[in-house]
Amino acid sequence: MTHTDAPLPLFPHRHLLGIRDLSPPDIEILLDRADRAVSISRQSEKKTSTLRGRTQINLFFESSTRTQSSFELAGKRLGADVMNMSVASSSVKKGETLIDTAMTLNAMRPDILIIRHQSAGAAALLAQKVGCSVVNAGDGTHEHPTQALLDALTIRRAKGRIGGLTVAICGDILHSRVARSNIILLNALGAQVRVVAPSTLMPSGIEQMSVNVFRNMEEGLKGADVVMMLRLQRERMAGSFVPSVREYFRYFGLDAEKLKAAKEDALVMHPGPMNRGVEIASEIADGPQSVIQEQVEMGVAVRMAVMEALLDPRRNPEGPGA
Ligand code: NCD
Repeated sequence: MTHTDAPLPLFPHRHLLGIRDLSPPDIEILLDRADRAVSISRQSEKKTSTLRGRTQINLFFESSTRTQSSFELAGKRLGADVMNMSVASSSVKKGETLIDTAMTLNAMRPDILIIRHQSAGAAALLAQKVGCSVVNAGDGTHEHPTQALLDALTIRRAKGRIGGLTVAICGDILHSRVARSNIILLNALGAQVRVVAPSTLMPSGIEQMSVNVFRNMEEGLKGADVVMMLRLQRERMAGSFVPSVREYFRYFGLDAEKLKAAKEDALVMHPGPMNRGVEIASEIADGPQSVIQEQVEMGVAVRMAVMEALLDPRRNPEGPGA
């Protein structure tokens, strides 16, 4: 069976700016579509024609290897023409603003713009200015919706469900758009969400996001079904948030000893890129409970699903801007 055999429910949005804008059924639509996309990626013939003739522009103001290549492969597997524009090779360095760049690209009539930017709200701003669909690939410390969706897909495929699971998100919560998007999504689908971090990396008022707060790894991991580690985002830290890397690993790095507190079959996740020996021990990252490689695979499938859903011809048969 191919992904086009049975009609899928219509996704009722033109842009994907954050998980906050999605209802639980919206999330399920994307995860179900992504399940179908996984099988396409596992065939030797990986190219489909869903987005044939469509133009996708990846506009990355922050450096990224895995997210950008994941969006690029996803677009290519759907048959779209994909153009990558990164800040280093653009005139943004010459003082052109985000909006000027967006308007210039918009005049080239793309069908979908994927944006990563260092400022929260950049994707939403862009969506107001351009005539095509916009996908947020990470805006500052705000949201990273496709990461949360790929994490949810990985969990759902491994555990068969999300509702009722206990998920511990650990580490640099303060600077993490991955944590924010995951907290919103996992809560929407009925998981119990815990956040585990030292006080300096715990955002104030995080309790208002319906999470249980822990400042000790063993307590936070106790009985967890999923342990999601976050990268220590040193590039976002102005002062000293952690005494030393060695100290951080000792108390908050995931090693075999700390992992024992979680359920025996707990999944270990990390969005990458990993700082091995800082937030996670190599033996755990590469160990039997790790689904970190699956996350990467699910990333391509989720991005295929998102782009197909946004550009669904049933909603707008003539295409955006027509
Ligand atoms: C994440 C990001 O950029 O927010 N990484 C990613 O999407 N590959 C997490 C991180 O940078 O730590």
